[in-house]
Amino acid sequence: MRIDVLSIFPSYFDGLTLSLLGKAQSTGLLDLRVRDLRDWTSDRHRTVDDTPYGGGAGMVMKPEPWGLALDEVAGSSDDAEGGRRPTIIFPSPAGEVFTQKTARDLATREHLVFGCGRYEGIDERVFEFAADLGEVRLISLGDYVLNGGEVATMAMIEAIGRLIPGVVGNPESLVEESHEDGLLEYPSYTKPASWRERAVPDVLLSGNHAAIAAWRREQQFVRTRTRRPDLLPDGEDEHS
Ligand code: ADE
Repeated sequence: MRIDVLSIFPSYFDGLTLSLLGKAQSTGLLDLRVRDLRDWTSDRHRTVDDTPYGGGAGMVMKPEPWGLALDEVAGSSDDAEGGRRPTIIFPSPAGEVFTQKTARDLATREHLVFGCGRYEGIDERVFEFAADLGEVRLISLGDYVLNGGEVATMAMIEAIGRLIPGVVGNPESLVEESHEDGLLEYPSYTKPASWRERAVPDVLLSGNHAAIAAWRREQQFVRTRTRRPDLLPDGEDEHS
């Protein structure tokens, strides 16, 4: 998968060279290209923002650098490399909420482009223009406001990247985790069996695989009911 990131703070993404996603890049499973939006400015100050029409607080990102940057990373001249039209994602608190389902969907795409906004946002015409180049999605990490799209983009790249086949060594570990079956994950324990007078639940030491599976399933429902009841469709809680 190819991922282009456009940001005025490209060094945010240095962390993506670490761990599993770093390895995915060195083995060629992930082609991550982080670009500085200011490279598409032409004035001495490399300006990317201006005052809002109509007045109001803060600054708005100018359309021109975005247009040139998107022409280059998402434009049709790039088709030879990627083939298909890219999916262009603008992280925004005003977008659809990112979930594991979104991550699974985006992990099937060949080419993603993330446009990280700052300040009060990006000139609205950029989104309209981008729709000529690919599928545009405005996506929120959750119902809170960050200072810009960088942290949200990193979170999304990590959630999507680990679903690319081959990135996580043991694909089974992707199956039994929170949100994959709509429930939270069951609790995990390792050695020692007793630690600071706290014992690991007996069933996990029993060797009875059916009993272990049943206990884990029940724990998933207990946790989901207490912590995230909104995830349980009415009547689906077989353990209530
Ligand atoms: N930019 C600012 N806040 C955001 C959020 N909650 N999600 C995605 N991008 C953002």
